[in-house]
Amino acid sequence: MTRLALHGGKPVISKPFPPYPSMGRAEEEAVVGVVRSGVLSGFYGSWSDEFWGGEQVRRFEAAWAELFKAPYAVSVNSATSGLLAALGAVGIGPGDEVIVPPYTMSATVATPLFYGAVPVFVDIEPETFCLDPDKVRRAITDRTRAIVVVNLFGHPGRLRELRALADEKGLVLIEDNAQAPLAEENGVHTGNVGHIGVASLNFHKHIHTGEGGVCVTADKDLAQRMQMIRNHGENVVEAVEMENIADMVGLNLRLTELQAAIGLAQLDRVEEHVAARRRVAEGLSRGLEGLEGLTVPAVRPGCRHVYYVWAMRCDEKRLGVSRAAFCKALAAEGFPHFTGYVRPLYLLPLFQRRIAIGGRGYPFDLAPHVDYSRGICPVCERMHFQELVCFEPCANLFTDADTELLVEAVRKVHGLRGELAGENA
Ligand SMILES: Cc1ncc(COP(=O)(O)O)c(C=O)c1O
Repeated sequence: MTRLALHGGKPVISKPFPPYPSMGRAEEEAVVGVVRSGVLSGFYGSWSDEFWGGEQVRRFEAAWAELFKAPYAVSVNSATSGLLAALGAVGIGPGDEVIVPPYTMSATVATPLFYGAVPVFVDIEPETFCLDPDKVRRAITDRTRAIVVVNLFGHPGRLRELRALADEKGLVLIEDNAQAPLAEENGVHTGNVGHIGVASLNFHKHIHTGEGGVCVTADKDLAQRMQMIRNHGENVVEAVEMENIADMVGLNLRLTELQAAIGLAQLDRVEEHVAARRRVAEGLSRGLEGLEGLTVPAVRPGCRHVYYVWAMRCDEKRLGVSRAAFCKALAAEGFPHFTGYVRPLYLLPLFQRRIAIGGRGYPFDLAPHVDYSRGICPVCERMHFQELVCFEPCANLFTDADTELLVEAVRKVHGLRGELAGENA
């Protein structure tokens, strides 16, 4: 008789999966080439041809723009830097309200604070975990300047709808596309619907350069402003022919030649890397669809999901056992997963104590009406505290046989869940 591994049975998965092999010969050769050239960064922080970066950086940006069908691509040293550059380029300033989702990596909601702007959290949709446009509309005030939509877990937010809303209200739409390279909504790549899209190339993503990021835009002026914020723009304002550019303050957010060269090699195989993750995720969804109490990830019609995270929902009532007990049994079977994602971000001490920069309440003192109480985003709280069970297709190398084992592990626990009654985590 089959027994749960939790109760002494044989686990379905008995050895850990190897890490995903993202680096290959091409990356190795690219790095060696740059090291031999002696030029590890081609940037100068003053007005010259090198202001725009070295050869690898420029080639990487051109290749990115072509592949993702974006008129302008500006590389940076992380997506966090990209968000900083994007918010600065669109002119976010003290007291502005920036609408953000609470379910994302903290950089999405922390970066507006550096400009003295205040994040306003709006709840997500339960199907795709991205911003709910109806709730966004209701949250817009005369202080709102921007909406940052996150294409969470690799699924597009309601981008067309949000862009139409932003245009109607005179707001800027920024896409945090850190988790969704090659995702699409109605045939358009994510990142290209907003005024600016920001990708991440950190170690955990579909393709990476260790650390890194790329901002895309169709607006030349915004591209140039982001290039200036990336590279000490205050030094070059007199040389650049743009309006209202004197308020430019830059940083050093530059990508190195080494990273750009690796990025070029990664771009050559981005379709393959994304396809590998989609294959595992779709195999899991197919194998687990229709099980009582479990809901596999939704894909909105017209959308392409690239599965940075595969997240199923668990309805404890229909399942008849708690998520905690179910997951304890899943872990014993060797199924790698985590529950929830990040705590709804307004619950961070930063927002609860309303202290960000300088220790005296700035910038929250500019917007005392903005609410960060528990309960403001009930869907997000339910997803995090009760429903989501997440699996990372990006973390490991999973063959088709592995995917079958993953399915078998969940099906086994599901089939024997009656034995978990009374089990506590
Ligand atoms: C949605 C989202 N936004 C922003 C970031 C920040 O990316 P980076 O590490 O490249 O700064 C991440 C990283 O995980 C992310 O997932």
